[in-house]
Amino acid sequence: MKLATRTTRITPSPTLQLSATVKALIAQGHQISDFTAGEPSFDSPDAAKSAGIKAIQEGFTKYTAVTGIDDLKQAIIDKFTAEQGLSYTRSQILVSCGAKHTLFNLAMALFESGDEVIIPAPYWVSYPEQVLVADAKPIFLPSEERSGYAIDLDKLKAAITSRTKALILNSPCNPTGGIYHRETLEGVAQLALEHNFMVVSDEIYEKMIYDQQTHVSIATVSPEMAKHTIVVNGVSKTYSMTGWRIGYAAGPEALIKAMGDIQSQSTSNPTSIAQKAAIGALREGQDFIQMMVQELDKRRTTIVDGLNRIEGIQCPMPAGAFYAFPNIQGLLGRRFQGTPLTTPFAVADFLLKQAKVACVPGEPFGAPTHLRFSYTPTIEVIQQGLKSLAEAIHSLE
Ligand SMILES: Cc1ncc(COP(=O)(O)O)c(C=O)c1O
Repeated sequence: MKLATRTTRITPSPTLQLSATVKALIAQGHQISDFTAGEPSFDSPDAAKSAGIKAIQEGFTKYTAVTGIDDLKQAIIDKFTAEQGLSYTRSQILVSCGAKHTLFNLAMALFESGDEVIIPAPYWVSYPEQVLVADAKPIFLPSEERSGYAIDLDKLKAAITSRTKALILNSPCNPTGGIYHRETLEGVAQLALEHNFMVVSDEIYEKMIYDQQTHVSIATVSPEMAKHTIVVNGVSKTYSMTGWRIGYAAGPEALIKAMGDIQSQSTSNPTSIAQKAAIGALREGQDFIQMMVQELDKRRTTIVDGLNRIEGIQCPMPAGAFYAFPNIQGLLGRRFQGTPLTTPFAVADFLLKQAKVACVPGEPFGAPTHLRFSYTPTIEVIQQGLKSLAEAIHSLE
């Protein structure tokens, strides 16, 4: 059997794989401080759960409209209007089975052979892979830790060619926690309009933002830019609803229709009861967000302060999302029982085996000197993990 060539271009999600390995170790009885998960540890909000239960009890368990039910689209439209002053019609909204699925539909509908897609690095692991599945070419745009991983407009200008089809923005960013400010986004918008490429704005972490900073969507820079932007979002992170699988996109009607057509020939509609639960979350989940973000903020400062106390690790305070992204250059080359740890992969493997601390190495994010720690576990787990981490690292030669 000869598999399709595209399967040789991609690698399975390393973060999901690692999370599965760690979960299996925990199930076998190993005590592990797990910082790999890309999901909040909180239960989904009551408003979402009761809407889902009600949907089951009322028999709302059949196929729905492929692109999502009208009530959910309306809740999404109302959210955009109230929070960002953006106005969309129902034909500009597509509901899919999680934001990853939204982005996959988008890659299939927008990218093809010969296209270039600019991706700021470090990046979420799935962006380059989805671009590759769509036969297009990812072009990486490096960003600097010292600028908070801001986009360098000169570098962006230099990366643009006649083949540039889109730029993928993720603010707040997984894995860096960096956020883009309005001034930078205005500069990006100017380039997008001048060179006529689309901006994909993945705003899945929009609510996880700290220190009184605010989330800015590039779609709000100007009405013209809104027409060049496809906003991607979902309920997974904001409402701790990763398992329900509801993501959505808002953007130009023609693109949304093409994405919906692809969805109609792959998954059909997102799960009916999950759509109802998402309405519950969007309409009544605001207190939940406040509670969760306050708690995440405490965990953020606990882990960052703790990591910075460990020799060889430097960790900037992330502005958003729920990841600490320490630079571990100071550890690379140090030895464990005579063997040098030369890569984040090697360091992460050492930490899992010796400290029973699980984190994600930076390589799959395009960051060969970093580790990613999700700070969604409780403060107690974070403190225990930091203690074990410090002891293991202290033992390195
Ligand atoms: C940046 C980013 N975008 C999209 C997603 C996908 O979210 P969902 O669970 O809704 O598919 C994730 C999940 O980790 C993410 O980190």
